[in-house]
Amino acid sequence: MNNAIVDVRNVSITIDTFQGPLRVIRNQDISLQPGEILGIVGESGCGKSVLVNSLMGLLPYGKTKIKADTFMIDGNDCLEFTEDDWNELRGTTVAMVFQDPMTSLNPIMTIGEQMYEVIHRTNAYGEDYDERAIAIDLLKKMGLSTPERRLSQYPHELSGGMRQRVCIAMAVAGRPKILICDEPTTALDITTEAQILRLMQTLAVEAGIGIIFISHNLRVIAQICDRVMVMYAGKCVESATVEGIFNEPRHPYTLGLLLALPQGKWHGELKAVEGQPPDLFDLPRGCAFNPRCKWAMRICGNRIPMVTNVGEGHQFTCWLAKLEGL
Ligand SMILES: Nc1ncnc2c1ncn2[C@@H]1O[C@H](COP(=O)(O)OP(=O)(O)O)[C@@H](O)[C@H]1O
Ligand SMILES: [Mg+2]
Repeated sequence: MNNAIVDVRNVSITIDTFQGPLRVIRNQDISLQPGEILGIVGESGCGKSVLVNSLMGLLPYGKTKIKADTFMIDGNDCLEFTEDDWNELRGTTVAMVFQDPMTSLNPIMTIGEQMYEVIHRTNAYGEDYDERAIAIDLLKKMGLSTPERRLSQYPHELSGGMRQRVCIAMAVAGRPKILICDEPTTALDITTEAQILRLMQTLAVEAGIGIIFISHNLRVIAQICDRVMVMYAGKCVESATVEGIFNEPRHPYTLGLLLALPQGKWHGELKAVEGQPPDLFDLPRGCAFNPRCKWAMRICGNRIPMVTNVGEGHQFTCWLAKLEGL
């Protein structure tokens, strides 16, 4: 497993806030292989963005404490990275696509100007290159029609889906090995979403880019990911292949998310997971999910469950495993 381009073990992330230090991520592992698409799913506020932002050095500087046993990105130990070190990695080794393409693009620069800037910055094209040809080629690969014309347009002249394609083109301009997509299709209509998802798959298969894809929507995750991490209150409660998660969910929270889907093996009467995710400042004792879990036992409110392995690469963190004798 050691050609992993992300190999992070036992990471905990604490951010200083007005209310004091907030431990957002607790003892989490995350790994990624070249060409793999890893999905991260979980309700809003569970720490998905904080976890992936840590892989790009994008957490509030001076206010964030990261502890980990291993924190390797493409062979670099990033735990002691300075801002300059991160700057070198960003855009070239790791790149990111955000939820809202309008806020990622500069409204007063043309698409061309913004793309050329990225192309220059990445140093991915040697000494002598034609920025315009590279930009056109990137936009074409992203499936944008008449890319030549797009270069002289401003972001507001494009549709939401086109803008997101431009953002992905800019993210891959530096030929990154890792592409982090933080809810990239949440702001898009469903047809455009499907096109962007196909594009992601192409990038993983053809360019061998490892992709971390965040969504609160399991349906989206199911379409493109190889492996899934289900997060709850700053911790992964279950991780497995897509098939493992969808066919043999083990954690009650995963099952709750599946039951809330409108279609599929598990759909019932379209139930939401009842209750609210906990306040990270005031986590319940024991398993963080226990107040919302209909199978909760006494031990669940007292002790944090351990990780149980079931089959290859399938892990979950729940006391029910003990009942099953696992
Ligand atoms: N820069 C920050 N300063 C203080 N708290 C933050 C910051 N970023 C995130 N948090 C807190 O961390 C928790 C997880 O946030 P986030 O990772 O954005 O969740 P998700 O992406 O899963 O919706 C939230 O409680 C949020 O308020
Ligand atoms: Mg987020």
